[in-house]
Amino acid sequence: MSNLKDAPQLAATHSNLSEYAEDTPNIDLIKRRQRHLGASILFYDQPLHIIRGEGSYLYDHHGRQYLDCYNNVASLGHCHPRVVDALYRQAKLLNTHTRYLHENVIEYAEKLSGMMPTGLDISMFVCTGTEANELAMRIARAVSERNGVITMKASYHGNSTLAHEISAAAWPEDGLPGHVVAVEPPNTYRGPFTGSKAGVQYASLLDKAMDELDARGEGTAAFICDTIFDTQGTLEAPPDYFKEVYQRVRARGGLCIADEVQAGLARTGRMWGFEHYDVVPDIVTLGKPMGDGHPIAAVVTSEEIASKFTNSNVYFNTFGGNPVSAAVGIEVLDIVKQESLVAHVEATGNYLKDNLKQLQNQHQIIGDVRGLGLFLGIELVEDPTTKLPAQALARSLPDRLKENGLLIGLSGRDGNVLKIRPPLIFGREECDRVVACLDQVLR
Ligand SMILES: Cc1ncc(COP(=O)(O)O)c(C=O)c1O
Repeated sequence: MSNLKDAPQLAATHSNLSEYAEDTPNIDLIKRRQRHLGASILFYDQPLHIIRGEGSYLYDHHGRQYLDCYNNVASLGHCHPRVVDALYRQAKLLNTHTRYLHENVIEYAEKLSGMMPTGLDISMFVCTGTEANELAMRIARAVSERNGVITMKASYHGNSTLAHEISAAAWPEDGLPGHVVAVEPPNTYRGPFTGSKAGVQYASLLDKAMDELDARGEGTAAFICDTIFDTQGTLEAPPDYFKEVYQRVRARGGLCIADEVQAGLARTGRMWGFEHYDVVPDIVTLGKPMGDGHPIAAVVTSEEIASKFTNSNVYFNTFGGNPVSAAVGIEVLDIVKQESLVAHVEATGNYLKDNLKQLQNQHQIIGDVRGLGLFLGIELVEDPTTKLPAQALARSLPDRLKENGLLIGLSGRDGNVLKIRPPLIFGREECDRVVACLDQVLR
């Protein structure tokens, strides 16, 4: 049996699902919510009632301002005026589905393809990262004529049956479904391999995993990996890791899927996370940031792979790629390009990372600062030598930071990594505010 709620990296920032004291702020709303939404998850011991967003900031019902370092869905900032206008203009005119000819979806697919490596020309549109990964798995299975999947330990890829099965965070280590094998993520701070050969050593773990899938009669249909390793605590893989892995997987007839739902769209200081590793995936899945808050997601692959799939499968998605979503998607891509956000994120991310590393010199509890672009992780430890995870302190920090006007999440297999993932438009002033607030709360 799987249980996502018990995964530390997912449970850590979620408040108790049922017990709120009568004097909890907004208790009436909380009770109404519980009555009709059941055990749906809320952040924080004292949940926030957010009513407005603008740029990098969110505002609660008292008008209190919070600097948003959690949201990579409102990628260009909350309520970006150009995105809102694009949505409104198209929504006033027409919204249907992809079974009529419409310029928007074609232009969006053309633009996406133009931003991908050569050969990744076909886009299939869906609404969520889950659907994108579900479809990617179906494609990989149809094309490879195999069934097994290699995923990362402590991974998350979505909430449908297939996506859930490959989300190792949701399963006990020895209880994964028979067609799934999870391998150790390339953690060079505290994993089994940390030296200069770590890339090959971590990649070699796939040989055994693929042998195991063969022995079970499944074979390897796909290797799927979130290229920024969000739920594993934000990792930077050794530079040769993905090259080594992709070679191995392809040699056994499997397809390589890059889950770019977190790392995609300039987030890591490159347009796509896999670009850091000089590899070209067979299938790319996109989601969260693509619509700056609007639900747009996609699977991007080659003509050859797409046509092998569509030869034996029909795929249609009622809402995916509709004219309004496509108008939003186009506007988002245009803004990323026109405002040179890839370069901006790289520069701002380096500035923030350097300043966080300086903060590390003042706080022993900061064991590691890592990540790419504006997706950074701060690993908290009891002691820098033993690296014992500082779980209890980490668990308390998002609430304390929130009281100081800063919204930050937690991740990592032990729930001890602060994750900083602000809108891509984040500036140096905001970075300074993050560092000052962290410094104050850690003191
Ligand atoms: C890496 C990754 N893939 C897929 C998903 C699923 O996306 P969605 O929630 O849009 O279905 C998530 C969501 O958090 C994710 O982090």
